[in-house]
Amino acid sequence: MTLDLARFPRAELGVWPTPLQEAPRLGVAAGTEKLLLKRDDVNPLGAAGNKLRKLEFLLGDALARGADTVVTFGARQTNHGRLTAAACARLGVRCELVLTAKVPRDGAAYDTSGNVLLDHLFGARVHICADADDTARTYERVMAEADGDGRTVATIPVGGSNAIGTLGYVAAAAELAQQLDTAGVPSARVVVAMGSGATAAGLALGFAVLGADHRVDVACVGMPATETEAEVSRLVTETAALLGIDAPPLGHVRYDESVLGPGYGVPTDRVWEALRTFGTTEGVVLEPVYTGKAAAGLLGGGYVGEQVVFVHTGGMPGLFAYAPEAVVAVTARR
Ligand SMILES: Cc1ncc(COP(=O)(O)O)c(C=O)c1O
Repeated sequence: MTLDLARFPRAELGVWPTPLQEAPRLGVAAGTEKLLLKRDDVNPLGAAGNKLRKLEFLLGDALARGADTVVTFGARQTNHGRLTAAACARLGVRCELVLTAKVPRDGAAYDTSGNVLLDHLFGARVHICADADDTARTYERVMAEADGDGRTVATIPVGGSNAIGTLGYVAAAAELAQQLDTAGVPSARVVVAMGSGATAAGLALGFAVLGADHRVDVACVGMPATETEAEVSRLVTETAALLGIDAPPLGHVRYDESVLGPGYGVPTDRVWEALRTFGTTEGVVLEPVYTGKAAAGLLGGGYVGEQVVFVHTGGMPGLFAYAPEAVVAVTARR
C-alpha cells in the first residue's frame, strides 16, 4: 500500500530527508558492523530532534484551524516544548509551555539551563507547575486568559503524541524505508526510544502499511513495557483510523524495558557508558533521558551480526541540564 499524507495540512519546518549514516566504529562496539544512524537530531530549526516531524502536522492542523496561540505540556526539560517554542517563533504564533516537575532533579543546571534556557530564547511563556493539580489549574488559567484576549488556542498533548502528531513518523517510516531500499538493505531492526509514543507508533504503522520488512525495537525510557506497548498500540489504532485504514498487527514491534532503570529522567551507569561510546567512536552526542537509554539497549549485546538502524531522536540540550552529573560520569574513567 502507498501512503498519501498530502491531504493533511503541514507546516514546513524541517529539511528532509535527514541523513542515514554508516557508523562503523560504533558498529564494532555494538557487535554489528551493519549499523546505520538515522539522524533525526539534525535539522536547522531550534536545535531540532524528533518532535519536528510531529510538529509539521500538529502546527499545520493548528494553523488550518486559525490558531494564534499554542499550549503544550511536558516535563521541565521537555524537548517537545523547546521545539514547539522554536516552531511557534518561526510561524509567528504565541507559545505557552505548561511544564511539570516530574523528574527527581533540581539545581541551577536542571532548572534553568538546557531546554529551559532555549524555551525562553524562543520567546515562549513558561509556566512551571509543582504537580498534576497545579498543571491543571495553570492550563485553565492560560485558556481563560486566551479567551479573554479573544485568541484562538490549539492545545497539543505531551510529546505531541496524538494521531496527527504520529503522522510525522508515518512519513518518517516512508522516508527511512526509501533510504534503506536505496542502500540495498531489505530488512533491518530499527531501534528507537519511546517517551510519549508517536515516534515508535508512526514507524511501526508506517512500515506495516508500506509492507516494508523492518522491525521496530522500542526502548522503554519512561514506563514499563506493558504500559509502553499499550500506548504505542493505542496511537497506532487512532492513527490508522485517521488514515481510514485498519490497524495492522504489531508483531514486528518489541519492547526493551531493561534500559528503564529507576524511571523517567533518571540515568544509569549503562546510559553514561553509552553516551561515552557514541562520543568516542563517532563524535555523536546523545542525552541521558531518551537516546542514552535506547543506546544502552543497542550496546547491550543483543544485536550481534544484525542489520540495525539506530534512530537518533535528538535532545542534545537536555544533556546540559544534567551537566553536573554528566561531567562526573563521563570524565570518571579518563
Ligand atoms: C530526544 C527524544 N527522543 C525520543 C523521544 C521519544 O519520542 P516519543 O515521545 O514520540 O515517544 C523524545 C520525546 O519525548 C525525545 O525528546
